[in-house]
Amino acid sequence: MKGIILAGGLGTRLRPITHTGPKQLVPVANKPVIQYAIEDLRDAGITDIGVVLGNLGRDDIQSFLGDGTELGVDITYIVQGNPLGLAHAVGCTEEFVGEDDFVVYLGDNILNDGISDLVQSFETGDYAAGIALQEVDTPEQFGIAEIDPDGNVTKLVEKPDDPASDLALVGIYVFSPAIFEAIRTIEPSWRGELEITDAIQELLDDGFAIDSHVIQGWWKDTGKPEDILEANRLVLDGRPGSLDGTVDSDADVRGHVDLHETATIEGGAVVRGPVSIAADTVVEGGTYVGPYTAVGPNTRLSTVHLENSVIVGESEISSDGKIVDSLVGKGATVTSASGLLPEGRRLVIGEQSNLKL
Ligand code: TTP
Repeated sequence: MKGIILAGGLGTRLRPITHTGPKQLVPVANKPVIQYAIEDLRDAGITDIGVVLGNLGRDDIQSFLGDGTELGVDITYIVQGNPLGLAHAVGCTEEFVGEDDFVVYLGDNILNDGISDLVQSFETGDYAAGIALQEVDTPEQFGIAEIDPDGNVTKLVEKPDDPASDLALVGIYVFSPAIFEAIRTIEPSWRGELEITDAIQELLDDGFAIDSHVIQGWWKDTGKPEDILEANRLVLDGRPGSLDGTVDSDADVRGHVDLHETATIEGGAVVRGPVSIAADTVVEGGTYVGPYTAVGPNTRLSTVHLENSVIVGESEISSDGKIVDSLVGKGATVTSASGLLPEGRRLVIGEQSNLKL
């Protein structure tokens, strides 16, 4: 079994963050999103991994992942170029995949329980594909699968007006090489993309059996800023916390806090977990870091009240008042203009931004 991670795409819904870098490297609980996919594949015993790259952030992804050795996998890069759809991206992997079965993992998705159950379920039968499903409250907003009592997929419908099932397709699939012929057969959809659901439907129409596996833990597509914040909350909630860094004696720290060994919480600072604070970051006195916040490396926080936010790193944040529900890009600074006492600002700002609030 091989693994494929799709890390092309434009990431338009995550602008301005994706103006300067790929969304697959945005950190969730201080770990780039794509690393969750790599670790899930590795934990399912899949170490031969192809990473599909687009034009955006290609070098950044390659320099982060390298040849995969540090993460315990072997990575081959496959260039898709323009994002012509998920099925097109999968089609680009045919030479790498060869005669093997393979898992396709969307590089901006995070799954709480990993993929071992999905892979095992696929391997118990003679299937051309296996799809991960999750029950959702609003099936009309998703690609939906209808399944028979044995879990075999009978029909796929994209965003149905009148859904016959509430099982949405999660961005993880297992395929046999039969998918490549199906991809060659389909036509672009109304939005001009080769859709993976159309290719799977083609397999069904050709009489192939398709397995399904309903996942129980949470699943998050991190395509939008609010999704990043929610994924960050979900991951931080599951963390025990480890205070490896320096905590001054009169700092007030409670709850689960992951503090890197080179990070510091100074006297007079208040930190309420779950929180993650990365390498070389300093939380100065007079600062409040509230629940569900992840602060990236080499960042200085002072006088700010920060909550439910992701600070990518290399930043200085010294604004008076509250910053909540915010995604702050790498290298951004947020400082105070004098005489203002602002409340609860919500920010999505890109790399190298410079705000005076
Ligand atoms: P999407 O989130 O569907 O697309 P996108 O990344 O272009 O984002 P947006 O809609 O905000 O513009 O992509 C899901 C994953 O698949 C993501 O990791 C990017 C990847 N992908 C490719 O590798 N090739 C493609 O052609 C497409 C459409 C996506």
